[in-house]
Amino acid sequence: MHAGQAPQTADERREALKALCVQTQACRRCPELAGTRQTVVFGSGNADAELMFIGEAPGAKEDEQGVPFVGAAGKLLERLLGEIGLARADVFIANTLKCRPPNNRDPLPVEIENCRSYLYRQVELVQPKVICTLGNFATKLLREDQTGITRLHGQPELMALGRRTVRLYPIFHPAAALYTPRMLQTLREDFLRLPDLLAEPAPEQAQCLGPPEPERDDPAPPAAAGEAGEAESGMAQAGSQIDQLDLF
Ligand code: URA
Repeated sequence: MHAGQAPQTADERREALKALCVQTQACRRCPELAGTRQTVVFGSGNADAELMFIGEAPGAKEDEQGVPFVGAAGKLLERLLGEIGLARADVFIANTLKCRPPNNRDPLPVEIENCRSYLYRQVELVQPKVICTLGNFATKLLREDQTGITRLHGQPELMALGRRTVRLYPIFHPAAALYTPRMLQTLREDFLRLPDLLAEPAPEQAQCLGPPEPERDDPAPPAAAGEAGEAESGMAQAGSQIDQLDLF
């Protein structure tokens, strides 16, 4: 690959995803979240997945472990995946926010906006055919519309996200289905349509791609954090942690 060229092969895209993951580890776009998080929960799974899930934001367990959907909702997600013959390692899982909102409060609009370019870049690099948005936050963000999940669930639509066209498939959030049997039944029925959706041809991509989203000028780490170069060594440390976590 030459400088300035977009990553194309699966290996190139995986390497670019790793670099993005390392970049997010030092993110301070949301000062409150950067000050309270234990980890940045970038996302995990198959970096070349046909199916991607996008949830809301990490909870306490995810924040501890640096991996999305490791709590009760994640176990349900894994069970439903198993019922259609897929494993967690076959799909890519991410969230609208990469950091846990304190006390699990709702993500703020400014936080969702701050994190949006990371998510769009993840979509661009993983190149999924189908994206399941889990619940209201992810669905409203990606559709850029306030229509709620109760009206939209189970209805696929073609959608351009950044520079990628995907089949967007909103479904209920597994956390909401955990304690509501009727919602679980609906979620299961929507899941059962996924194999057919995945069997459809990949959506056509626009030939004339616009420029990628401009890189933002991220705030520098606080001065008290130390000498110049510390951010870089922090990145290197994050890189080795990522290898250990074997996120993708
Ligand atoms: N709920 C989410 O939306 N995301 C997680 O990672 C965990 C629970």
